[in-house]
Amino acid sequence: MDAPMIETRALRKAYGSTTVLTGVDLAVGRGQVLGLLGPNGAGKTTTVEVLSTLLRPDGGTATVAGHDVVREPDRVREAISLTGQYAAVDELLTGRENLRLMARLAHLPRAAGRARGDALLELFDLVDAADRLVRTYSGGMRRRLDLAVGLLTRPAVLFLDEPTTGLDPRSRSDLWAVIRDVVSGGATVLLTTQYLDEADALADRVAVLDHGRVIAQGTAPELKRQVGAAHVELQLAGGRAERVATDASVADVRRILADVEARRLPVESWRVATPTLDDVFLTLTGRPAEAAPADAALLVGEAS
Ligand SMILES: Nc1ncnc2c1ncn2[C@@H]1O[C@H](COP(=O)(O)OP(=O)(O)O)[C@@H](O)[C@H]1O
Ligand SMILES: [Mg+2]
Repeated sequence: MDAPMIETRALRKAYGSTTVLTGVDLAVGRGQVLGLLGPNGAGKTTTVEVLSTLLRPDGGTATVAGHDVVREPDRVREAISLTGQYAAVDELLTGRENLRLMARLAHLPRAAGRARGDALLELFDLVDAADRLVRTYSGGMRRRLDLAVGLLTRPAVLFLDEPTTGLDPRSRSDLWAVIRDVVSGGATVLLTTQYLDEADALADRVAVLDHGRVIAQGTAPELKRQVGAAHVELQLAGGRAERVATDASVADVRRILADVEARRLPVESWRVATPTLDDVFLTLTGRPAEAAPADAALLVGEAS
């Protein structure tokens, strides 16, 4: 790869005596999408916050667009945009007003800012809602607007922290389409996610993060190959279950079901199961993906 647009080496971060990143090594080439995959509490947001200069690392190095996040934070900030899990748009303004305000704050020339905002409303399918208060937007629309705000300045590097967590399936796939559009414009993206299928759909490469450490890296198909292919799961009468490996194609599933029928197996239910994040963790670590206690960060945050 040419000089990576995002690179971390032995990146460490601790909160008090709790080490959250224990030595993270990542490299993302220009125009590439890296999916950082991990359960709740794995250290995804911490990694993104260090890379976007919101948090100072305790060890190791991180560069973004060739600039060190500690020594040249201003240069890093000029090159990036960060879209978090919680949309940071103003509820009491319309979508269009949010874009205009942020364009002004980013010092875009007035006409250029308006034109860019209008183009983003178009791209993100928000034209009809543009003059409604954001308060009336659905969760998916807010995320799209938030992402649009982040793209006003055409950043070279985008951080998307769990962009679809909490969205319904329809909004998720709408957002995936938007992200694909953005990526085809040449941006370098680090996207965090708890969903293997999301990493599979959007990322060129995937890094699996567990307790602040990268435990596997590769393309999504490589990971899935390690984890084992999809399978047809058959629930049989008497509590027996059977698993048959499949490539999940219609023809193969049809062949398996025809065979099941021919053998007159007493099937109570069946499904095609594709590998999940849990399967990845089970294979890589021998245990399920364990989420940190949901309120741990809050408790510590209040205490400190
Ligand atoms: N401000 C904080 N103080 C103490 N611990 C924190 C703080 N922020 C995050 N953590 C802890 O760091 C770990 C990683 O958190 P985070 O990076 O938010 O994970 P993820 O984004 O993968 O869910 C978690 O165990 C979390 O509880
Ligand atoms: Mg997070």
